[in-house]
Parts: sequence; structure tokens; C-alpha cells
Amino acid sequence: MCGIVGYVGREEAAPILLDGLARLEYRGYDSAGIAVYSARDGLQVAKAKGRLQVLSDKIHGGADVRGRIGLGHTRWATHGEPSDVNAHPQLSESGRFAVIHNGIIENYVEIKEFLQEQGVSFVSQTDTEVVAHLLDYYYKDDMMDAVVKVLHRIEGAYAFGIVCADCPDRLIAARKDSPLIIGYGQGFNFLASDVTAVIKYTREVSYLDDGDIAVLTADKVEIYDSLLLPQNKARHTVDWEVSAAEKGGYEHFMAKEIMEQPEAFRKTISPRIQNGRVVLDDLEIGADDLREMDKIYIIACGSSYHVGVVAKYTLEKLLRKPVEVALASEFRYCDPIVSPKTLCIVISQSGETIDTLAAMREAKRLGARVLSIVNVVGSTIARESDDVLYTWAGPEIAVATTKAYSTQLAVIYLIGLYFADQLDAIDEETYRSVLEELQRLPDKMEKVLEQKEKIQYYASRYFNHESIFFIGRNVDYAVGLEGSLKLKEISYIHSEAYAAGELKHGTISLIEPGALVVALAGYRGLFEKLMSNVVEVKSRGADVLGVTTDSLGAEMEKTVDAAVTVPDTLDMLLPSLEVLPMQLLAYYIALMRGCDIDKPRNLAKSVTVE
Ligand code: G6P
Repeated sequence: MCGIVGYVGREEAAPILLDGLARLEYRGYDSAGIAVYSARDGLQVAKAKGRLQVLSDKIHGGADVRGRIGLGHTRWATHGEPSDVNAHPQLSESGRFAVIHNGIIENYVEIKEFLQEQGVSFVSQTDTEVVAHLLDYYYKDDMMDAVVKVLHRIEGAYAFGIVCADCPDRLIAARKDSPLIIGYGQGFNFLASDVTAVIKYTREVSYLDDGDIAVLTADKVEIYDSLLLPQNKARHTVDWEVSAAEKGGYEHFMAKEIMEQPEAFRKTISPRIQNGRVVLDDLEIGADDLREMDKIYIIACGSSYHVGVVAKYTLEKLLRKPVEVALASEFRYCDPIVSPKTLCIVISQSGETIDTLAAMREAKRLGARVLSIVNVVGSTIARESDDVLYTWAGPEIAVATTKAYSTQLAVIYLIGLYFADQLDAIDEETYRSVLEELQRLPDKMEKVLEQKEKIQYYASRYFNHESIFFIGRNVDYAVGLEGSLKLKEISYIHSEAYAAGELKHGTISLIEPGALVVALAGYRGLFEKLMSNVVEVKSRGADVLGVTTDSLGAEMEKTVDAAVTVPDTLDMLLPSLEVLPMQLLAYYIALMRGCDIDKPRNLAKSVTVE
């Protein structure tokens, strides 16, 4: 959710903070604020409702707020509407402390009442404000002591950045259940929600763990654990370029990321295929563990969950082991049947989604082994799982995921082949044909993306529809789920995805003349069945946009109003190709409706609150 950044160094802090926030804006964008300290002006705070640009304009790109130490925040509102007053930083009543926060303080009501009894007045509706006032309450000339006392008093999730006017050479960072990194420089240091905020200035970072507290000055960073024991944190070097987190000539990050998918897919699979075999050196799980395993549970949210739906079909087919896929937010509270013989595959682009993290912790508590598929290196889910396979998609900035989805699929295919091989569940010929086709997929993905003008044309035909249905069977259905989500996320058109066979059990009542149905029919073995469903909706007046493979295209075109075809491939690999026209369709429809594609309303990329 919210993005936080803090800088202490020898340069003017405000422009650096604004630049960092611009790179974190995908985490939340309903309001923003900065606090900067200088000996002349003391602690100055500037906040503004709306996009970061509003704040930047208000303070002339930072020129109005002078000082070499400060904090910045971009907000996704939880407690209190988006407004200037609810934006962070929140100030303590004395004006001594400024606090930025990502997370939720669960016992804030009780603390607020306590502080009000002490005569403290509150100005915002945020949970964060209690932290600022509580710092005042505990402060007796020792900033660290006050911070530690506050951390003991509060419950919930947090990544904090704190500055105190009495100790203006330092920032304090603290984390529990919300991501926080330290960026190290020569004569400056950073705290931030993630590396995108600091990559322009430094590639050397550390990932804070739960309970860690860091004290940053321009020349030094000291990190302590929750018992205040000094920590020697490992430092990592970020290996991607600043340009990877920039638009590079595209109008939107989403467009750029859609077009990057073939390359991202290649990068994810290539190093893991050697001499005609899938090699997953980074996995510790062995053949014996796999033989013991009686069930696979896949846990994820959003688009990552949709990868899980594909994975259920794919892994069950390849491994002949039961695979259950669960939404992380449901798994947590459903008393799941999990044992040491369960393998949990946790899928998360950010590696920080709070529901997924909590579900993973629950699975581990119940004894399951956890293998995660994660994009963000060093994220909490990656660090806490038994095994991790990174997707190597590079930074994904658009809120609506595209290349992370595709590379997650790539990893699922690799896992399927690797596990099937280990379990002797696949014959050599099938193994080879799937592997070879997997390696051909990036080229085929490029072919699909070459049709973007055609899809743009279809978008111009359909962008005014009020409701769009997606139907499919087997993996086509799984792709429909993702197509529907993409569309509603960024174009705000109402949309539903249905297993085509379920249509006549209710949803068909919604089909009326002019309704648009996107029919996914690439799965060869179910093509005729799917086409029967197409005929059913057509006879009720629907317009149908069909998606199938080149070899089935001519047959499909006899019935549908418009069609997109993708190169022929193995049924199980179809999602990697079929999802591309779904993403492009959503993108162009959103563009034609004038939507804010990279920052859709009410959403955030990294959902770190429950
Ligand atoms: C948010 C994002 C989605 C994403 C989901 C899960 O809702 O907007 O694009 O699929 O979180 O995120 P994760 O980082 O765990 O994959």
C-alpha cells in the first residue's frame, strides 16, 4: 500500500524525496506529503490531497522546503478519507516528531482515548497520528528510547520513518509486517518501501526484518533487532538498471510491460534449461520429498491466484497429484487441511501481499513445506519460504500486472516439468515436446503482440459496452478470469468470467442483445463444446469476440463476430499466448475510455493491509 521514503545526506532532501515518491506512487496515490528539517526553518511539512504532482507543484518541485534530511509518503487511505490533513507525515502535538507509516495500527482507538485523556488533541482520522503523539508522550530527551517504547505499545503492521527536530541528524526506521529497505550511499542514506525509490542513487541495499529498528545518519546506518542487539545486515546489490523502472518512450508502464513479456519469459526460463533438462538448482526440495507429498496447495491473491488456477490444471495433468488452489484471504480462515506432506506453492509478484504472507505463515505453522514464486528479490515471502523461485521479470510498475503474470506462468511450467521428471510421472517424449514448445513460446508471444493494432481496432468497437463476459473451459477459463480482472481493474467496465459450461446455470440470464462475450476457445479438445456455448449466447443476441489458435481460427470465424488467433501450441501452454490479447484489449479499452491506466482508482499494487 503506501509508499515511504526517507533521505539524510548533504543534498537538498525535498527534490530527492519527491523523485523517490514518484517511483513509489504505484503503491498509493490519493495524497502525498513530505517533512524536511533545517536549522533555520525547523521541521517543515507540506501535504496535498491528490496525485504527487499536486504536492510537487505546491512546493515548486521541493524548492520551497529546504533541508538535508526528510521523509516522504504517498498514501493509499485506510483510516480517514484522502485529504491534506490525513496525508502523512503526521506531526506530534509539540511539532517535534514527524512520522510516515505504511500499515495499520490495530489498537489505535485505545491509544487515542488514552492520549485524549492526557489532553492531547487529534487533527486527523488516521491511525498513524497516535504514533506521533505517543512519541511525544514517551520522549524524555532520548529519541531511540521513545521509539522503542512506542513500538512496544502499538499492535499491528508498520513500516515507519521518523524524524525528530531535537536530533536533526538522524532518521529512525522500524518495520513489522510491512516492507522496508535501507539504501546505502556515500555521504547519504535512505529508507524506503522498496528499491525503486533509491535505485537512481544507490544499488546497495539491505532488507529489514520484522522487529528491526535502523538509525540512519548521512554517514552511518546502525540496525538493531527487537531486543536492541546490533545487527550485521547483509547488503545486496540490485542488478537491474534505473531504466527498467522508467517508461522508455511508452505512454504507460502497462504498455511497456505488456511488450516486455516475451523477453521477461525468456529470461525466466533460459537459465533454468540446460542440456535439454529443467535445472532448478535453487530448489532444495528433492525427489524423496516430492514422492512423500500427497497434495499441493497453491495460495495467492489477484492475478497471482489466476496463475494458480492455470497451475491446478497444468500440475495435476503433469504430476497426477491433487492440487488445490486457494485465495490467500480465504485460506487463512478456512481451517485448511495441511500437513507435513503438503507442498504449498505461494505465488506473489511483490512478495509482500499481507494475506498471502499470513496464509503462508499459517501453512508453515501447520507443517507444510513452502515453495514461493516471487518477483521482488528479498521480499518477505521470498525470505520466509523454504524454497523460492524468482520470476526475474524486472520491476513491474503498472498496478495491473502483466509481465509478472506471464513469468509466474513460466515458472509453473518449469516446476511442472521438473517435478514430473523427479517423480517419473512423465515419459521422455512428452517431457521433450513440452520443454521444446516452452522454449518456442517467447517467439510465439511476439507474434501475438504484433497483432496489437487489430486488438486496438476491436477495442474501439467495444469500449462503450457496460458489461463484458468472458467464457472458456479448462485453461481457457483460467485465462478468462485474468482477462476479466484486467478489464475491470483498468477500464472500470463490469465484467465476469465463467466456466462456459456454467453459463446456463444462471449467468445466461444476463445475456441480452448487444452484450459482449469474449469466448476463449484455444483448448483443442474442448473447442466444439465451447463453440456450442458461443452459439447459445449468440442466439440471445450477444456480440462475440473469439480467441483461439491459428488452426481453429477459420472454423471459429464462421460463428463469431470478431476473432483473434494465437499461434498453435500445446493446450497446457495456451495461457501464455491467450492472455496477451486479453491484456491488450483491456489496455486499449481503458485508453479509449480515458482511464488512468497505470494508477487505476482505488487500487494499489502492493496490498499490505488485510
Ligand atoms: C494487487 C495487485 C494485483 C495483484 C495482487 C496480488 O491487487 O493490484 O495486480 O495480482 O495484488 O499481488 P501479489 O504481489 O501478491 O502478486
